[in-house]
Formats: sequence, structure tokens, C-alpha cells
Amino acid sequence: MSEVAVHPAVEPLAFLLGRWKGEGKGEYPTIEPFTYGEEIEYSHTGRPFLYYVQKTWNPADGYPLHSEAGYLRPVAEGRVELVLAQPSGITEILAGSLNGSLIEMTSTLVGVSPTAKQVSAVRRVISVAGSTLSYQLDMAAVAQDMSIHLRADLQKAEA
Ligand code: HEM
Repeated sequence: MSEVAVHPAVEPLAFLLGRWKGEGKGEYPTIEPFTYGEEIEYSHTGRPFLYYVQKTWNPADGYPLHSEAGYLRPVAEGRVELVLAQPSGITEILAGSLNGSLIEMTSTLVGVSPTAKQVSAVRRVISVAGSTLSYQLDMAAVAQDMSIHLRADLQKAEA
């Protein structure tokens, strides 16, 4: 929808727009460390939110891993909200701050389906510097305190 003008409310988030691709590292106190390939895309429809889609894969064999999709909304000066759904039966609602190209969000609600792994809180920090998008995800899950699960540096991909 690149022909449509970005909604003025979304302008402060326009630095995220486009496709980003790269590799990340995962860990958690209960699992073996791992690496993953990842592609994400932020797009817009002219409405006052960004649409976010992500997919990941095992770099060794290309086998799909986690994926997620959702909406990122600027809600007031310097504040953002994100709603996300994951095929693993987990949903997240996060709220936080936007400072230049740094977004820091903490969950206000994590919903899990009856068979999903137990996750009670998530923290996501996203930043862009030049053509690199970096993020870190920490979570409190499966009876562990808030600990790092993911970090990645993704490069801006051609449109
Ligand atoms: C880049 C995205 C992600 C990748 C590549 C990824 C990958 C993995 C892998 C490989 C494992 C270990 C094997 C397994 O239990 O399936 C795992 C475990 C887990 N992940 Fe993720 N994950 C991602 C995002 C998330 C997110 C967003 C959440 C929650 C909000 C999450 C929650 C969990 C939990 C709860 C476990 C289980 C830990 C345990 O049972 O000890 N993951 N993840």
C-alpha cells in the first residue's frame, strides 16, 4: 500500500516501515541456546496503525519456527501499544514508550490458550540505527523470572 500516504499519527513510526531480514540468537534458562533466521515487515494502509508480520526458520534446514502478527499503534505523544497473536496459542498486549527510533514496551496482558506454554510477562525493546533494526525480547515464562529469550540484528531488505 505504498501509494497511500502514511497517516500523520504514524509518522513517528515510519522508520520501521519495510522488510527487515537477518539472524537472531535465542536462549532461556530452561532450553539450549539456538540461532534462527528471521524476516519481518511493517506496513501501513493509511490508517493510524502499522501492520506487523514476522516469520522465523531454522538456519540449518530452513524449517519454519515461531511466527507472529499484530498491530502497532501510536496512542499519544511518545506512547505506543502493540497487540500480537502467535500460532503457539499466545497473545500479547504491550504498551510503552517511543523515543526517536527506540521503542520499549512491556506487556499489560499475556493470554495463553489451554494448551500453550505458560507465559506471564513479556518485554520488547526495538531500535533502528541506519539500516539495522535491533530488538531484544525478555519474558517471564514456565516458572522463570524475566529473562532474555531473543535478540537479533536485522538488515533493511530491498522493497
Ligand atoms: C523469533 C521468535 C522465536 C523463536 C525463533 C523461538 C524459538 C524457540 C525455541 C527453539 C524454543 C525451544 C524449543 C521449544 O520449546 O519449542 C522456544 C521455547 C519457548 N519459547 Fe520461543 N521463540 C520465539 C519467540 C517466542 C515468543 C514471542 C514467546 C512468548 C511470548 C516465546 C515463548 C517460548 C516459551 C514459553 C518457550 C518454552 C520454554 C520451556 O519450555 O522451557 N517464544 N522458543
